Amino acid sequence: MTAQTPRTVAPATDPQTAGSPLAPQWLGVPDDLNHLHEPMWAAGVERNAAGELSIDGMPVSALKEEFGTPLFVMSETDFRSRARAFKDSFDEAFADICGGVDVYYAGKSFLCTAVVRWVDEEGLRLDTASGGELAVAARGGIAGARVALHGNNKSDSEINRALDMGLGRIVVDSLAELDRVGTIAAARNAVAKVMLRLTPGVHAHTHEFIATAHEDQKFGLSMAADSTDRTGLSAAEEAVAAASAHPGIDLLGLHCHIGSQIFEPDGFALAAKKLLTFQAAVQSSYGIVLPELDLGGGYGIAYTPVDTPRPPAEIAQAMADVVRSTCRELGISAPRISIEPGRAIVGTSTFTLYEVGTLKTVRVDGPGVQEEATDGPASVTHPRRYVSVDGGMSDNARPVLYDADYSAVLASRTSPAAPALSRVVGKHCESGDIVVRDVYLPEDVAAGDLLAVPGTGAYCWALSSNYNYLARPGVVAVRDGAARLIVRGETEEDLLNRDMGVASA
Ligand code: LLP
Repeated sequence: MTAQTPRTVAPATDPQTAGSPLAPQWLGVPDDLNHLHEPMWAAGVERNAAGELSIDGMPVSALKEEFGTPLFVMSETDFRSRARAFKDSFDEAFADICGGVDVYYAGKSFLCTAVVRWVDEEGLRLDTASGGELAVAARGGIAGARVALHGNNKSDSEINRALDMGLGRIVVDSLAELDRVGTIAAARNAVAKVMLRLTPGVHAHTHEFIATAHEDQKFGLSMAADSTDRTGLSAAEEAVAAASAHPGIDLLGLHCHIGSQIFEPDGFALAAKKLLTFQAAVQSSYGIVLPELDLGGGYGIAYTPVDTPRPPAEIAQAMADVVRSTCRELGISAPRISIEPGRAIVGTSTFTLYEVGTLKTVRVDGPGVQEEATDGPASVTHPRRYVSVDGGMSDNARPVLYDADYSAVLASRTSPAAPALSRVVGKHCESGDIVVRDVYLPEDVAAGDLLAVPGTGAYCWALSSNYNYLARPGVVAVRDGAARLIVRGETEEDLLNRDMGVASA
C-alpha cells in the first residue's frame, strides 16, 4: 500500500451478513449454519443433543472411530423407502393404464450385493450396464428375469452372460448390435428378450429440456427419417422390422432415456409422446404390437438448498396423464411401462464424512464499491477460505466432471461462529480437485473437525478412483441404529496387490 491512500475500499456487501460477492448468485447465507436442509439429507440424519451430526442416533464421531474417514454413510432405511416410493407411486398412477410399472433401479449409480438384495426385496428390478454389474447382480441373488442389460458397446461375452442368466431384457443400442444379439441367441437355440433404445431428440437437464429432430450422441437408434441409407426410413423403424423378423429375438418394446438430474416432468412427457406415436405408426404399418415401453431414469435430487425435486407421486401422475391421453388419441392400448431411476433412489440416502486438515484463506479480486483512488483504481478483494479434507476427486469426481454443486456442514459439532465463504477441496495433486465449490461454513472450522457432504449416494463411489494411490473409501449402511460395512474401504495392500513387481518380489 502506498502512502497516498485513501483507498480503503468498502466492499459492495459485507460477507458476514449479506454474503460474499465471490459467492454464486444462487447461494444465500444460511440463517443458521448448523441447520440441516431436510431435502438434502437421508431420513434419520439429525443433530443430537450435543450438536453432533448423527444418523439413526449414531454420532459421526463413532462412525469415524470405527470405520475411519473418508467414509460413505448410507441409510438403508432411506434407500428402501425411496425405492418403495417410486414403486408405489408409479404403480398407483399407472394402475388403470397398464396395471402398474416395473421399476428398474439403475445400478450404475451405486451397486453392491447388499443393494441388489434391498432392490429385490422392495419389489424393484435391476438395470445393469456391463458384465461387471451383471456379476454383482448374480452374486446378489436377484433372478435374471428381473435384470436388464444396457450398453452401447456390449461384448459378445456380455451378451452370452446375459443369455446364461436368462435376463429379462437386453436393451439393444444399434442395428449392428441387434444383429449380433440375434445371431448369438440363435446359435444357442435361445431367444433374447430385447428392448430397442431410441433417441427421441429430447434432452433434459434440471429445469430445461430441448427437443431436436436429430441426435448427435453415441447412444441409441435415431428416430429421424433420414437416419438410414434407405430413403425415409429411420434407424428405429429398420430395427423394429429387423428385430421382429429375427428368430433369435423376442422384441418386447422401445426404450428411451433423456438425461439426468431432471426436475420437471415435461421432458419425460414429450419423450413418452414421441415413442408412443412411433409405436402406433409401427403398429399400423407392420402390424407389430409392442407390449412394453421403458421411459428411462433421470429424476433429480437436492444437492443444494436451491434444488427442488418433485416427489415421485407428482412425476408419476404427470407421466401417467400423458401416457393415458396419448394412447387414447392414437387409439392404441397402453404398453406396460417401466422406468429406471438411479440417483433419485440412492443419491440422498448417503453423505460422505471427511476430516478437515489444512485450512487457508486467500483474497480474491471481486466486485465492490471503491472510492476514487488518487493513483488509479484500487482492487477490491474478498476472502475465500480453502478447507482441505482427507478425500477429494477420487471419491467424488462429479464437481470436476460435471461442475456439479454440492453442499457441506460442520458435522462434529455446532458452531456459533460467523459464516465464511468456503471451498471444500481434496488432497489430490490438482488445483481443480474441488468437493464443494462454494458453501458458507462457520469461520472457526478447524483441523480435526468432521465435515459431511450430503447427496453423495449416486455416481460418487461408483465413479471413484485410486488417483494418487488413495484407497477408495468404504460404504457403511445404517439401519435401526446399527452400522455395518457393505463395501469395505481399500487398504494399502489392495492398492499394491495388482502391481506385478510387488507380487513377484
Ligand atoms: N437409464 C439409463 C439408460 C441411463 O443411462 C441412466 C444414467 C439411468 C437410467 C439412471 O439415471 P439417473 O436416474 O441415475 O439419473 N454420471 C452422471 C450421470 C450419468 C448418468 C448415466 N446414465 C452424473 O453423475 O451426473
